[in-house]
Amino acid sequence: MGLKEKCSIINFELHGDERGQMVVIEGGKSIPFTIKRLFYIYGTDSDAVRGQHANRNSEFVLVNVSGTSKVKVSDGKESFVFELNEPMKGLYVPKMLWKDMYDFSEDSVLLVLANTHYDGTEYIRDFDEYKKIMNDYIYDKTV
Ligand code: TYD
Repeated sequence: MGLKEKCSIINFELHGDERGQMVVIEGGKSIPFTIKRLFYIYGTDSDAVRGQHANRNSEFVLVNVSGTSKVKVSDGKESFVFELNEPMKGLYVPKMLWKDMYDFSEDSVLLVLANTHYDGTEYIRDFDEYKKIMNDYIYDKTV
């Protein structure tokens, strides 16, 4: 399975009327897991690179609810860049993929939804180690 097939772009429900816009995200419905955690990243320098890790257990959905950023996703062999630039569009990233987030606009608020509580021990932060692990890894697509 190609890298792009492992990830997916999710279009959230948009409710707009004369008062403005509202986007609805429901765990287990519009995103393919039960939400256990969310965090958001803002005030990021435009030249900062965040992420730079893979997670053994965590799946994520990333959405720029304000502003823009880019995320580069890699499986150690292939990579692709996704522009997070619409508040009604998210990128689903399954576990065991490497992520770099960068090119943050000044008004960027990057919302991240996760299927896990935070556990620092599930992070792989060394890309060479990650590539070695991925040589033996059999991807199991569950969604
Ligand atoms: P870090 O993993 O470096 O963030 P990013 O993936 O955006 O580069 O996390 C920064 C700090 O925040 C680090 O000390 C761990 C802590 N943290 C939590 O305590 N809980 C969380 O859910 C996350 C994502 C990070």
